Amino acid sequence: MEEILKNSMNKTQKRSAQDLRSILCKKERSFLQGQHIKLTDAWDLEAFGLQKVKAFNILSEDKKFQILNNMSLYRLQEAHSIETAGMTFTAKMSLLAISEDEQILYSHFAKDEAQHLAYFNEMLAGYYLNSNDDPFIRLLKNVIMSGSRRSLIFIIQILLEGWGIDHYHLMSFTCKHPLLKKILGKIIADEAAHHASGLILFDESELTKNEFKYICDIVAHFLELVTMGPISVLGQIESAHESLTSRQRNEVYKDLDALSDVKRKLNILKSLMIKAKSLKIVKYLEDRNLFAVSFSEVNLFVNPANQRPISLML
Ligand SMILES: [Fe+2]
Ligand SMILES: [Fe+2]
Repeated sequence: MEEILKNSMNKTQKRSAQDLRSILCKKERSFLQGQHIKLTDAWDLEAFGLQKVKAFNILSEDKKFQILNNMSLYRLQEAHSIETAGMTFTAKMSLLAISEDEQILYSHFAKDEAQHLAYFNEMLAGYYLNSNDDPFIRLLKNVIMSGSRRSLIFIIQILLEGWGIDHYHLMSFTCKHPLLKKILGKIIADEAAHHASGLILFDESELTKNEFKYICDIVAHFLELVTMGPISVLGQIESAHESLTSRQRNEVYKDLDALSDVKRKLNILKSLMIKAKSLKIVKYLEDRNLFAVSFSEVNLFVNPANQRPISLML
């Protein structure tokens, strides 16, 4: 089963050898109608907090433009990867459903995720997509492959889709492209329903010991990734300068107010867990101090051999 799920999320063949497009075009709702999105028109410097960063402001106009383009591209590419994984997640949950209602629900959600993916395919038409997964996407895929029904309801629907709503809101709020902004609004409405059904289905008292441990281990790892801070912006600026000293990296993080950003994200995740009444999980993570962070703990790791940011959601 894991192999099937892995292959499902890592397809390299985009188009069917048979002409399925003639049918898919009638099913998928196109929002761009063949228009091309210029990514630097979709989000400006403020959307990524770049205007506050001294190490960014001293770069040439060409380099600044390239960073802005890359940030927007990675943002959409990450969303594309999440929606691809979402299709596999909903297919698995449909098979694991314990009632007909639940199976119908996940079948509807599968259609939503397929439509979201179609939207991102449209936005990214003509752009080169990097096939390397960042650590966040790798974690997401591993969880979808290995998680039980109850673990997946908690990790994917409550935590990640709940957090995804905040991320898409931020993308939409800062978006300058009217059509793209409208589509992000539609995606947020769908994701809100996915998240809400997770809250209805989850009951912490039903978790087995193994499921409790699995959830705590995965969420602890996820929180560690969050405390790494906005490494995507840092990675781009570092690449443009070829390298930065650790003092310069610290300055970039201070200019970006990275500590506040990390704290905000940790608070969102904790409040989602409290909303799901998962108090034992919260206690386990609190006992290990995983919701707390100080500036010195914000990890300044950027892989210099890899210009792709580790994650944009993080
Ligand atoms: Fe989605
Ligand atoms: Fe979703």
